[in-house]
Amino acid sequence: MLDIGSYSIKLLYGHYTNGFVIVTKSGFIRSPEGLVNNGLLDVDLATEAITELMRNLQIKPKKSGIAVVESTAIVSRNFTLPYANPTDLQGMVTMEVERLFSEVLQNYIIDYSCLNIRTDADGAKADVMVFALPDKIFRSYQDTFINVGLLPHKLDVASNSSSKTFRKRVFINDVACPVDKTVALLDIGHTMMNVQIIERGVLKFNRAIKMGGIDITKAISQDLYVSMEEAEQLKVTEADLLALVNSPLKISVSRVVDDIAAEVQRVLNFYTSSNTYASVDSIFMYGGTSRLKNVAKYMSRSLGHEIEVIDNMNIIHLKQELPLNCYPSDFINATGALMNI
Ligand SMILES: Nc1ncnc2c1ncn2[C@@H]1O[C@H](COP(=O)(O)OP(=O)(O)OP(=O)(O)O)[C@@H](O)[C@H]1O
Ligand SMILES: [Mg+2]
Repeated sequence: MLDIGSYSIKLLYGHYTNGFVIVTKSGFIRSPEGLVNNGLLDVDLATEAITELMRNLQIKPKKSGIAVVESTAIVSRNFTLPYANPTDLQGMVTMEVERLFSEVLQNYIIDYSCLNIRTDADGAKADVMVFALPDKIFRSYQDTFINVGLLPHKLDVASNSSSKTFRKRVFINDVACPVDKTVALLDIGHTMMNVQIIERGVLKFNRAIKMGGIDITKAISQDLYVSMEEAEQLKVTEADLLALVNSPLKISVSRVVDDIAAEVQRVLNFYTSSNTYASVDSIFMYGGTSRLKNVAKYMSRSLGHEIEVIDNMNIIHLKQELPLNCYPSDFINATGALMNI
C-alpha cells in the first residue's frame, strides 16, 4: 500500500483483519524532485523510487498494490439514494453520476464508495460518495505499478481512505473518539493539505488545497535569505509558533500558518453554512506539517477550536518498529486504504 507524497513515499505492507490493520513491514523514502504534481505521477521517477523502497524492504513483486491519491483535480460529490440491493445501487449511482458529471465524464474515471446504509421513515437509504478522478492521474499510477511489478489493485482517494479509520470506534492518542460526533480531519503535508469532515464515521465533505509545509520553507528561505535546505532545517529544528521572542523566523512561519488556518476556516465555514445542524465537535491534525512546533495550539487560537495532533491510532498494529523519523500518523492514509470496508 503506497501513499506517494511530494515529500515522502510511505509504504505499508500488511492486511486488514478483525478491525485492525496489521502491518508487517513499513518504510518511507524521500520523494525525488518533481515526483508528483497535484496527484499526477512522473512515472519514471516513481518507478525508480518505489523499486528502491521495495528492494530495501525485501518486498517481492506480484503483490496487489493499492495506492492513495490526492489532487485538487479530483471532484467529489456526496448524495443519498434509496437502497434495495448492491446491484440496483450500482445502476442508480451510474445514472446519478451521468446526471452530475455529464460534462466531465469523458476524461475521468468514476469511483464510488457506499458510506452507509440506514433506514428512515421512507425506507432504506444509501449514503454514497462519488469521486471523479482524471484519467491521466489514474494511468500514471497504473503504469507505475506495472513497472515496479505490482498488480494494480486499487487506487483510493486519500480522504476516502483516511476517513475509513473513523468508521468504527477508534482510539486516537489512547483516547476513544466519540462515534456519534462530527470530526474534522486535517492532513497537512508538503504541497497539499486536505480537510475532511466526517459525520458519525461517514465522510461528508472533503477539500484538497494546494498548500503545505513547502510554503513555510519558501517563506523562511525568502525572508531570511537562506537556501531551501537551510530553511527546511530551521523550520524543523528551531521554529516555534509560541516562542516568546518574535524572531524573524517566527514571523515568517506564522504568516504562512495564518494563511493555512484561514483556508481551514473557510472550508469549515462552508460546511457549517451548508446545513443548519452542521457543527464540528473535534478537529484532528496529521501529516508532516502537524509536527511543526506548537502549530496545533497556534491554529487552535485562530480557529477558536481545539486542535489535536494525531500521534497514534489504535487500529494500526505494527509488527515491526517504524523506520527512523517516521510516526504512526504518517501512515493514516495508507492504513485506511488497507481496510476493505
Ligand atoms: N518536525 C517537523 N517540523 C516541521 N515540519 C515538518 C516536520 N517534519 C516534517 N515536516 C514537514 O512536513 C512536510 C512533509 O509532510 P508529509 O510527509 O505529510 O508530506 P507528503 O505526504 O509527502 O506531501 P503531500 O501529501 O503534500 O504531497 C514537509 O514540508 C516537511 O518539511
Ligand atoms: Mg500526503
